[in-house]
Amino acid sequence: MTTQVEIADYKRLAKRRVPKLFFDYADSGSWTESTYRANESDFQQLLLRQRVAVDMTNRNLAGEMIGQQVSMPVAIAPTGLTGMQRADGEILAAQACEEAGIPYTLSTMSICSIEDVAAVTRQPFWFQLYVMKDRGFINSLIQRAKAAGCSALVLTFDLQILGQRHKDIRNGLSAPPKLTPKHLWQMATRPGWCLGMAGTPRRDFRNIVGHVKGVDDMSSLGEWTAKQFDPQLSWDDIEWIKEQWGGPLILKGILDPEDARIAAQSGADALIVSNHGGRQLDGARSSIAALPGIVDAVGDQIEIHMDGGIRSGQDVLKALCLGAKGVYIGRPYLYGLGARGKAGVTEVLNIIRNELDITMALCGERDVNQLGRHNLDPISPLLKQL
Ligand code: GLV
Repeated sequence: MTTQVEIADYKRLAKRRVPKLFFDYADSGSWTESTYRANESDFQQLLLRQRVAVDMTNRNLAGEMIGQQVSMPVAIAPTGLTGMQRADGEILAAQACEEAGIPYTLSTMSICSIEDVAAVTRQPFWFQLYVMKDRGFINSLIQRAKAAGCSALVLTFDLQILGQRHKDIRNGLSAPPKLTPKHLWQMATRPGWCLGMAGTPRRDFRNIVGHVKGVDDMSSLGEWTAKQFDPQLSWDDIEWIKEQWGGPLILKGILDPEDARIAAQSGADALIVSNHGGRQLDGARSSIAALPGIVDAVGDQIEIHMDGGIRSGQDVLKALCLGAKGVYIGRPYLYGLGARGKAGVTEVLNIIRNELDITMALCGERDVNQLGRHNLDPISPLLKQL
C-alpha cells in the first residue's frame, strides 16, 4: 500500500475509487478550465521569506473566523453532490470537521440534508444558500438551517446561471447516476463505492427533493439550476435574507474590488474572494491574484476570506499573508473523502495543518494571526503586479 503524504496522493486514490462522472464533477472548471488552473498555479507566483534563528516553540494556528473559534483558519467549502463522492459524504466530512475544530459548510446542492447532518453532529455547521426564484422555498431552507443550529449562512453570489463544464455534459452527470451501460460500467469498476451507496438511503438532493412542490425527482443539477436559480438576484436581496436569517452572514463569490465595496456595505460579516473554483467565469483572474486588491479596497471594513486553488498548507499561509482571515478548501477534502471516507478527510486536514505549521515556523513566525505581507518575498511575481 502506498502512503499518502500530500493532497495529490489523495487525488490519485480518489480517481481510482470514485466513479468517473463524480470524480470529474469535482475536478472540473468551466469551458477551457483556464481559471481553474490559474487558481492553483498562481500560488507559485508568491514566494516566502525564509527567516532563521527565531524561537520556534509554542506555535499557534488557532484563531477566529467571523468571531467563531477555529483550530486553524481553514474551513470546508460548500461542494455540490458530496454524498456522491462517497456514501453519506456530507455526514462524514462534517464529523471530520467537528473533530478537527474547523467549520464545515453544507451546500444547498448536497445529497445529505441539513437535518441529516444535524442529526449526527454536535457542533454547529455552516449552511450555504443559493437564491432560487421560489422565495418561499428559500425562506424554508433558511428556517431549516436555523432550526438545525447552523452558526453562519454562506450566501453564494456567483452562480445565478451555471458555467458550462464540458466533462459533466460528456459524462451525462446526474445524481443518482442513470443506469446506462456507460454509467453501470463506471460503477461496476468501483465496487467499494457501490457497496457504500447500497447501504444508504441518501442518494439524491435531500435539501430539495420532497421540500419543493412538484419536485420528487431532481437528478440533473444543470436542469434544476436553469429552472430554479434566480438570474435576477441583486444586492437588494441581501436585506430580505438577513431579516429571515438573523445570524452571521458570509457573501461568497466576490472577485472584483467594485463588488467588494458594495459587499462591504451590505451588512455581511465576511466576504469570500472566490471564482467558484474556476467553475463559473472562465477567463477571470485567480482567487489568490484577486485577494490583495480586495483586501486593499475593503480589508478595513469587512472580514475577508478566500477559496480557490489551495492544495497545501503553504497555499493557506500565502493567502493569510495577503490578508485573508480564513480560507476554504473544496477539492482537497473531496479527494480525501473519495479516497478514504471520513479518515481521508481527517488525514487531508492533518496534512494541511502540518504543512501550515512547519512552513509558518520556517518563515520565522509562531502565531498564524501575525502573518502578513512581510512574510512574502518582494521579488514574488504576483506582488510585482500589484
Ligand atoms: C455547484 O455549486 C457547482 O459548482 O457545481
